[in-house]
Amino acid sequence: MKETLRYLAGVAGPSGYGSKTTAEQVTEHCSFLVPSHDLTAIITGATSGIGTETARVLAKRGVRIIIPARDLKKAAEVKESIRKESPEAEIILLELDLSSFASIKRFCSQFLSLGLPLNILINNAGKFSQKLEFSEDKIEMTFATNYLGHFLLTEMLLEKMVETAAQIGIQGRIINVSSVVHSWVKRDAFCFSQMLNPKNYNGTRAYAQSKLANVLHVKELARQLKARNAKVTINAVHPGIVKTGIIRDHKGFITDSVFFIASKLLKSTSQGASTTCYVALSPEIEGLSGKYFADCNESCCSGLANDESEAQKLWRQTQALIYRRLRQPAV
Ligand SMILES: NC(=O)c1ccc[n+]([C@@H]2O[C@H](COP(=O)([O-])OP(=O)(O)OC[C@H]3O[C@@H](n4cnc5c(N)ncnc54)[C@H](OP(=O)(O)O)[C@@H]3O)[C@@H](O)[C@H]2O)c1
Repeated sequence: MKETLRYLAGVAGPSGYGSKTTAEQVTEHCSFLVPSHDLTAIITGATSGIGTETARVLAKRGVRIIIPARDLKKAAEVKESIRKESPEAEIILLELDLSSFASIKRFCSQFLSLGLPLNILINNAGKFSQKLEFSEDKIEMTFATNYLGHFLLTEMLLEKMVETAAQIGIQGRIINVSSVVHSWVKRDAFCFSQMLNPKNYNGTRAYAQSKLANVLHVKELARQLKARNAKVTINAVHPGIVKTGIIRDHKGFITDSVFFIASKLLKSTSQGASTTCYVALSPEIEGLSGKYFADCNESCCSGLANDESEAQKLWRQTQALIYRRLRQPAV
């Protein structure tokens, strides 16, 4: 109750920011503290909603932005609107469908061939599907897009991030955009083979499972990065509830009656992008890794999301699946 009132009132937490802080406010002084003009960020899902706002604000702070998109026309419109506000912004568009392993491989080899550094990777794209759909790799679409796609993307870009951080001495940052909904998943409903090919599909459950997997990915990769002393961190964020495409598309996820109540909790898109931008640029969180943030402050994730053995198990299962599939010849 106290937390809800704090949220509604936008009371600032220990970081000095709260639920009502916008992405612009949270990055206002960052450009003076980190040389953001030297930074390059990849932001998935930047053709809409929270991702577009994240790209706009980071570009305004001087960060070079790579927008991977499955619809390059839509991405070109986003680029144009950002350049109207920030004519100096450097924005590169490349094709990527996160639900396809082949497309991720193509994107990574295109990006790496540009010879650019990589400081920030924002795994923001997200999908909610009411109906059971399968990716071209024959994996349930929500899990394939939200979790497996970002896992493979991160794997393929990680060495570039480690190398960039070592060369220029600025910590690399990976951000997984998760959701508070990750905490709805019960342990017995988190089974890898079922998530790949569910028997009784439920869209809300599939979405929540993928968002839990995003946090477990953070936990295990943070552990591995610390163990190898890499100057790269990874954290998860919950952006808040924002009326973007992902919400608008789902009657049933939030029904009309619940929506009325939920509307009191809605954030603007710029408030929704603030936690991501804070974790991407703030010098205050330098060195923090494996954490979960909400309303621009470190927060608590569920017990299951904090379970190290669950995170390691999911990692092993994911790697085995991805590398088995990548070795298969294309048909
Ligand atoms: N909105 C909320 O209340 C809320 C709450 C908690 C967490 N989140 C999380 O916040 C993130 C951003 O969501 P949003 O609210 O901004 O949603 P959104 O407006 O629907 O944007 C989703 C983005 O993901 C991209 N995307 C979807 N499938 C893709 C694929 N296969 N390959 C490449 N890109 C793909 C979309 O591209 P297209 O333009 O091509 O469709 C779009 O750019 C998501 O991870 C979501 O789970 C949102």
